[in-house]
Amino acid sequence: MLFAPAERVLYAMLQIDPKNTPVPVVHQYLLGGVAPRPIALVSTLSADGVRNLTPFSFFNAFGANPPMIAFSPARRGRDGTLKDTHNNLIDTKECTVQAVTHAILHQINLASAEFPADVDEFVKSGLTPMASVIVKPARVKESPFQMECVLKQMVPLGEGKASGNLASCEVVMMHIAEDILDGTIINPARIDHVARNGGDWWSRITGDNAFKLAKPGSGDLIGYDSLPEFVRRSQVLSANNLAQLANWPAIPTLDDARALTNEESNIEISRVTFERLDRIGDFTAMLKLAQAAVRSGMKNFYLFEQTAKTALDHGDDRDFAWKTLILGNFLTK
Ligand SMILES: Cc1cc2nc3c(=O)[nH]c(=O)nc-3n(C[C@H](O)[C@H](O)[C@H](O)COP(=O)(O)O)c2cc1C
Repeated sequence: MLFAPAERVLYAMLQIDPKNTPVPVVHQYLLGGVAPRPIALVSTLSADGVRNLTPFSFFNAFGANPPMIAFSPARRGRDGTLKDTHNNLIDTKECTVQAVTHAILHQINLASAEFPADVDEFVKSGLTPMASVIVKPARVKESPFQMECVLKQMVPLGEGKASGNLASCEVVMMHIAEDILDGTIINPARIDHVARNGGDWWSRITGDNAFKLAKPGSGDLIGYDSLPEFVRRSQVLSANNLAQLANWPAIPTLDDARALTNEESNIEISRVTFERLDRIGDFTAMLKLAQAAVRSGMKNFYLFEQTAKTALDHGDDRDFAWKTLILGNFLTK
C-alpha cells in the first residue's frame, strides 16, 4: 500500500481541556511537551541581604535589542504561596542568571530544595558566589555563562496554586568563558548544557547529539508542493528527506543529472555490495552500482531512491540526491 507523506505519521491523539483537568496533570503535560527547556540558575538578594539561588526552567530569551530574558518563579503548587526568588525580585529588582551545565547538575538540583528564606543557598549547594560588575546579586563562579539582569516587569499569570509570574529582565552585562566560544558562537558540545523535560527526565547536550543545520536559502525554493509526484510518493524517502529536497533552489534538468557520473565501473552488482555501501554511506559508489544495474538490464528505481536517501541522511547532499532521483526516474522508466 502507498502512503502519502502526511499519512506516514499516525498518532492516536488525546484531547486535553486544561479547565477540566487537574492542575498537576496539566503541569506535567506542559513540562513534557514544552521540552527540553533551558534552565536559568537565578541568584537574588532579599531586602535583608540574604543570598538566594534557584533553578527555573520556565525560562528563555526574548529579544536581543535590548537583550531580554524571562523566567517564571511560580506560586507553590502545594499552597499557592510566592517563592523567595519572586519576593526578592519585587523587593530588590536585580538578579543574575546563569547557564546550567552538567558539571553543576547535582548542585543546582540541591539548590532547588525548599530552604527557608533566611538560608543562603550558595552555602547549601556549595556553589561559589562571585561579585557582579553592575548588579548586587552574586554570579555563580562555576557557570561558564552568566548574565547580570535588572527586572523590567513582573507579570502575575494567575492567583491560584502553581500560577506563574513572568519575570522579564534586561541583561545589562554578560560574562562568557572564552573556551566555550568558536568566534562569537557558543559551541554546544563545550558548554555542556543540561535541560529539563517532564517527570524526572533531564537532557544533556553533548558533542554526539548536537548538530548543525543551515538556515533555508533566501532566494527561490522548490517547496513541498512542487515536488514531482514520483518523489512525493516515494516509499523510501522520509518526510524529512522530502523537506530537504523541497529546500533547494530548483529541480535539476536531466542534462545536469546526467553530468553527475556515468563512468563505467567494474563494481559488483549485488544486493550485499549495495547494502554494504549504504551502511558506510558511500552514496557515490551506490550511484555507480545503480547505473551499472541499469546497463545490465535491471531497471530498479529503488536503487536510485535509496542512494538519494543516503546522500541526504549522511551528507545532506541535496544536489547529489536530486540529480540521482532525476537520473534514476529517467533510466528506469
Ligand atoms: C531544573 C529545575 C527547574 C525548575 N523550574 C522551575 C520554574 O520554572 N518555576 C518554578 O516556580 N519553580 C521551578 N523549579 C522549582 C524551584 O526551584 C523550587 O520551587 C525552589 O525551591 C524555589 O526556590 P525559592 O523559594 O528560593 O525561590 C525548578 C526546579 C528544578 C530542579
